[in-house]
Amino acid sequence: MKAVRIERYGNEEAVEFAEVERPQLGENQLLVKVRAAAVNPVDWKIRDGLGEMFGLKPPLILGCEVAGTVEAVGSRGPSRTDVGGFVAGDDVYGYLGAHSGGYAEYVAAPASEFVRKPKHTDFDTAASVPVAALTAWQGIFDHGELASGQRILITGASGAVGSMAVQLAKNIGAYVIGTGSERNEEFVRKLGADEFIDYKKAKFEEEMSALDVVFDTVGDGTQQRAFQTLKRGGVLVSTVSPPSAEDAKEFGVTVAMVVMMPNPDQLAEIDHLLEGGKLKVRVAAVLPLAEVKKAHQLSASGHADGKIILRP
Ligand SMILES: NC(=O)c1ccc[n+]([C@@H]2O[C@H](COP(=O)([O-])OP(=O)(O)OC[C@H]3O[C@@H](n4cnc5c(N)ncnc54)[C@H](OP(=O)(O)O)[C@@H]3O)[C@@H](O)[C@H]2O)c1
Repeated sequence: MKAVRIERYGNEEAVEFAEVERPQLGENQLLVKVRAAAVNPVDWKIRDGLGEMFGLKPPLILGCEVAGTVEAVGSRGPSRTDVGGFVAGDDVYGYLGAHSGGYAEYVAAPASEFVRKPKHTDFDTAASVPVAALTAWQGIFDHGELASGQRILITGASGAVGSMAVQLAKNIGAYVIGTGSERNEEFVRKLGADEFIDYKKAKFEEEMSALDVVFDTVGDGTQQRAFQTLKRGGVLVSTVSPPSAEDAKEFGVTVAMVVMMPNPDQLAEIDHLLEGGKLKVRVAAVLPLAEVKKAHQLSASGHADGKIILRP
């Protein structure tokens, strides 16, 4: 089968479109024919060398988020009680966790990492959901403990993770302030943001104070300035890097970095929202698998207008 593989860590040149063996189906696994593989910033970060820190050893096939059709179902192993009731022909989507291997014609991964694709959701949309939605969910609910009526600032509200966070926060009745650039204001407001701050024209820390939660998806100076917007006892959660413990002490706030983990129960709840039309997804580009370098460049620009999809 065709797949995108790296033989070594490095820049886009390390990526090759190669002919490789189809993956073997293990116990409790599904073999899925990939219809859409989403590109995430973590993919090119792994390619650049982050994979080494994760203990991954090249050669490896990139890609951790897919939608596709079940080709075969593995046998039940001793460690789990079932393979999710899946049968060949089911349309599914999921986050593959550390197993990776999504930029390919077929992927084999634990059945617990997949849910059934809603009938009226296309493959590109479904593949765009798990990473962004699970990261937003774990960031704002598990770490941020966001509750109805609280005020949350979401930086990068037009991004894949930020736009999920806006919708999830709004869905539980929080007051949502999003940051982004002017061209994305309408999009972010339509997702449910109560206020929008154009990061190119205004400093959010001069407009906001006493917030309950900040969910930062931008990092660097943005994350640093976000401390000033929180009330004492507030929470700053980042998807990018661990916020400063020193500043946390000074401002009297709690800080956390979300490291998204697969979570079948949360994915099932997210799927429920998707099926009910409560989660909208924006797809910026759909490219053939062979154009992976272009896809990585667009993602690494930090200015893609939505998710980038690779089609095998
Ligand atoms: N820790 C984890 O488990 C985890 C999981 C998923 C993602 N992440 C990380 O979270 C970050 C965001 O990921 P993503 O997939 O959401 O990225 P993305 O979709 O590529 O984000 C791009 C968006 O960010 C906006 N943006 C850029 N600079 C901004 C600024 N200074 N202020 C406000 N908005 C800005 C862009 O808008 P304009 O083009 O209009 O500027 C664009 O809409 C990445 O660093 C990723 O690695 C971490």
